[in-house]
Amino acid sequence: MAVLIVSKSNSLDGCVIVPGDKSISHRAVIIGSLAQGETRIANFLASADCLKTIDCVRKLGIEISCQDGIITVYGRGLAGLREPRDMLDVGNSGTTIRLMSGLLAGQPFGSFITGDESIRSRPMDRVTKPLKQMGAAVIGRKQDSLAPLAIRGGNLEPISYCTEVASAQVKSAILIAGLFADGWTEVTEPAVSRNHTELMLQGFGVPVITDGLSVRVKGRQTMYGCDIQVPGDMSTAAFLIAAATIVPDSKLVLKNVGLNPSRTGIIDVLQEMGGNITIDNKQMKMGELVGDITVETARLSGIKVAGDLVVRLIDEIPILAVAAAFAEGVTEIRDAAELRVKESNRIAVMVNEFSKLGIDITELPDGLRIKGGRPLTGAVCSSHGDHRIALSLAVAGLMAEGKTSIMQAESTAVSFPNFNQVLAEIGVDWSVVNSD
Ligand code: S3P
Repeated sequence: MAVLIVSKSNSLDGCVIVPGDKSISHRAVIIGSLAQGETRIANFLASADCLKTIDCVRKLGIEISCQDGIITVYGRGLAGLREPRDMLDVGNSGTTIRLMSGLLAGQPFGSFITGDESIRSRPMDRVTKPLKQMGAAVIGRKQDSLAPLAIRGGNLEPISYCTEVASAQVKSAILIAGLFADGWTEVTEPAVSRNHTELMLQGFGVPVITDGLSVRVKGRQTMYGCDIQVPGDMSTAAFLIAAATIVPDSKLVLKNVGLNPSRTGIIDVLQEMGGNITIDNKQMKMGELVGDITVETARLSGIKVAGDLVVRLIDEIPILAVAAAFAEGVTEIRDAAELRVKESNRIAVMVNEFSKLGIDITELPDGLRIKGGRPLTGAVCSSHGDHRIALSLAVAGLMAEGKTSIMQAESTAVSFPNFNQVLAEIGVDWSVVNSD
C-alpha cells in the first residue's frame, strides 16, 4: 500500500498538460474495436481503468498496439469479436464493466465479466435489465444485479428505454448494444448525462439523433476506423483548478482540457462561488470542445448545488466539497445520492475522512453540508481505495497545517497516473512511503 504524504503549500505555479479524458479513452477503444480497420488514439489515458478496457477488448480477439504514445485498435467490424477464453476483469472500472456489458450483449457467444471488490458491490441491474429486455441472456449475483456477470447475447431487438437514473454508463451500454440490433434503439434519461458515446458514434458514421432527454442510434451500421484525439480530462483538471483556487498566491494554466458542456458543471459552480477561472483557445476537435484554463487564487462563497447541475459535476463533488471548506458560509449539495454507489460510498467516506482534517462536513441522505472557514490540520486519512477521494484529500492537505498522510494512495493511478509528478511540477512538497 502506498501512503502519499503532502505538506502545506504556500503557492502553486505552472503550466500543466492535463492527462487524457478517461470516459473518452474507454469509448475510443470499445467503439474502435467494432469498426472496420485501424482506429488511432492520441493522448489516450494510460490509467489503470483504461488499461483494463484494453485488456478486455484484447481478450475478445482484437489486436491493440501502442507506439510513440499512439494506441492503435485493429477493429474487425461488428461481427469480428471472438469468445474470450477466460473471465474479463475490469479491475476498479465501472465504465468498463457497464459499457463492455452492452458490447457483450451483442455477441453470439458467452462471456464472464467481473472486477474488484468495489465493482462487485456496485449496482449492475441498471444495465442487466435493459440488456435482458433487448434479448440478451444475463446472469449475475443477487437477481442479476451484481457482478460477476455471465452474458450470452446476439439477435438483439431494438428497444426504447427510460432509465431511472441519469447515467452515461447505462445510456452507453444500451446504445452500444443497440449497434447490434436491427433498427433504432432509444434511451431517455431523467437528465442529460455526458454524451461522449453519442458524439463518438457519430464520428464513426453511425446515425444518432438527440432530442432533449432522448437519444437514438441506428443499429447494424458498418463503422470505419478513424483517428481520435482525446482531450484532457475535465474531471482531472478539477483537482488542479480547486487547488489553485484555494492555495494562496497561485496561478495554474491547464492546457487542452475537454469543455464538453455535459462536463463543465464544476467550472460554472466555482465561478459562481467567486472562482477566478478563465478559458482561452476554445476549439472543436472531432465533436468535442477543448480549450486552455487559467486559474488564480480566489475568495469563495458557499453555494447550493442541486438538480440537473449535479449530473454535470457528479465526479467533481469530492473536490467541490474540499473547495467549499475554504468558502465563506455554507455549501449544500443535494440530489447526489448516486455518490453512494460510486467507487466507494462517497458521501460516507467524505464525511469520515474530510472531518479528520478538521473540515466541518455533515452527511445528508442525498448529499452534504459543508461549513467553510475552519483551519485544517494534517492527519492520517484513507482513500478507501477511491481515486477521487485520494486526490481530494491530497488537495485538502495543501491547506492543512503540518503533514497529511493518505493511505491507499495508489488509487490515484485509476484516473491520474502522473499525479505525483504534476504535484512536483507545480511546487508541492510530497513523499511516498510504501507500507503493507
Ligand atoms: C462515466 C459516467 C459516470 C461517471 C464515471 C464515468 C462514463 O458514471 O461517474 O466516472 O465514462 O460514462 P455513471 O454513468 O454511473 O453516472
